[in-house]
Amino acid sequence: MSSTIELAEPHIQQLYQLACAAREKAYCPYSGYQVGAAIRISDGTIYTGCNVENSSYGATNCAERVAIQKAVSEHGKIQIADVMVVTDANPPWPPCGMCRQVIAEFSAQTVIHAANLQGEIITTSFADLLPQAFTPEHLHR
Ligand code: THU
Repeated sequence: MSSTIELAEPHIQQLYQLACAAREKAYCPYSGYQVGAAIRISDGTIYTGCNVENSSYGATNCAERVAIQKAVSEHGKIQIADVMVVTDANPPWPPCGMCRQVIAEFSAQTVIHAANLQGEIITTSFADLLPQAFTPEHLHR
């Protein structure tokens, strides 16, 4: 669903503001793409992240994974309710494939919000973004 941030619920607007602030911290001297993320976990706590690039390129961390790693390292196992990712792109970027796999590890009715600086926001269920995901349950079957 495509909409604008002005029409979003207050808790989504809050995630957007926090992701925009995180984006300002992006370390991206190689790509020049600043990305900010904010995740809300099941107890309502919000964690933020920005992309952190590396001169080896391959060691780069995406904003979404930084936010998730911060959350797990502070909280232990988490259930992700919402992921907000903000870029200056039109249309807004959804999370990359590697981030989708990491979200799958902790997803629980997760909703993904891809937004840009103009306030456009595209909301998708995580299940639609990564159908038939490989999850921890597969290891126990
Ligand atoms: N990036 C993210 O932070 N999140 C994504 O979902 C896609 C890509 C970052 C990685 C890199 O620093 C820059 O965007 C260009 O790929």
